[in-house]
Amino acid sequence: MTNFWNNLPKPFFLMAPMKDVTDVAFRKIIARRGKPDVFYTEFVSADGLCHDAGGLPKLNFGSNYRSLTSVNAPAPLLRDLKFSNDERPIVAQIFSSKPEMISRATKLIKELGFDGVDINMGCPDRAVEKQGAGAALIKNPALAKEIIRAAKEASDLPVSVKTRIGYNKNELEEWLPALLEESPAAITVHLRTRKELSLVEANWGLMKKVVEIRDRVNKDVLIIGNGDVKDLEDARRKVEESGCDGIMIGRAMFGNPWLFEGLQRFNLENSDLRLNLGNPLEHGLSEKLEALIELAYEFEKISPSKHFSILKKHIKAFVTGFDGAADLRAKLMEANSAAELESIISKV
Ligand SMILES: Cc1cc2nc3c(=O)[nH]c(=O)nc-3n(C[C@H](O)[C@H](O)[C@H](O)COP(=O)(O)O)c2cc1C
Repeated sequence: MTNFWNNLPKPFFLMAPMKDVTDVAFRKIIARRGKPDVFYTEFVSADGLCHDAGGLPKLNFGSNYRSLTSVNAPAPLLRDLKFSNDERPIVAQIFSSKPEMISRATKLIKELGFDGVDINMGCPDRAVEKQGAGAALIKNPALAKEIIRAAKEASDLPVSVKTRIGYNKNELEEWLPALLEESPAAITVHLRTRKELSLVEANWGLMKKVVEIRDRVNKDVLIIGNGDVKDLEDARRKVEESGCDGIMIGRAMFGNPWLFEGLQRFNLENSDLRLNLGNPLEHGLSEKLEALIELAYEFEKISPSKHFSILKKHIKAFVTGFDGAADLRAKLMEANSAAELESIISKV
């Protein structure tokens, strides 16, 4: 198995994992309009995954589209881990506080054909932290280290970590070296503490420090910055200022599946060009509404058992910034199917 992290052009630009946003359907829409250098799944509970996978018949890997829909067992989390080859390289993100579950989930993710596994050590969600997972691991570096080791020993997949700068305060000097000592392939640092949630601006002033600590402790680990990045131009500036290897972008993708289009447009392998991407193309209202309709149909096809209301976040993000947007948004919020959504839009 080749470690895809070693073959990425520099700097590289990644899609952030986002629960109920970067699902199979949204990733498909993005893959068609502007691919990031690396795709991430939304996070999945390793414990839940192992539970779902218990007693499954042999996984079905027949087609280009890696699908588990032919498996009869009720396996909702496994269904969330579908992907197409257009999304490679793709990393599956998991969370748990149990090294044994991380190990088993990593083996499964390897079997499903992913290119890497990422361990969430930054999520502030109460349900996740109550299990000792996500951001709670910042308070338990010894366990965090054990978890990384368990994932590395489970398969030959590259293992990465996504975390924050600390729990209640900046703890980079203690927390980051603990992670670096385990030599994950990459560490993404969301430049806020757990306590700050997303309520204050991401502290990009700390990114140089993050890179310095990496250079001192373990030069082999790639460092990715995350938090409030607006577009590729902003990302490029932040790479130049901080010296990090890559940038991960999340919320700026809302309503903008063309965010990474610049990379595709120039098919950029060359670092100098990567640092001079030019202005993004403008995408008008009709293109946006078309993308939203396409997303709704993909969502229905891929996740028939999920509630259509999950798409509300996307409706809000796509239908904004034009005369009559509020009115249309209100109508679309009532839609319960892709056909209804399309019908409402066709009357605009
Ligand atoms: C709706 C939503 C869902 C998220 N889900 C995840 C997740 O599953 N895993 C994760 O590591 N981070 C998750 N995050 C955090 C983002 O990956 C990212 O770190 C954060 O939004 C800051 O980056 P941004 O300013 O570019 O969005 C989520 C954020 C949002 C807004």
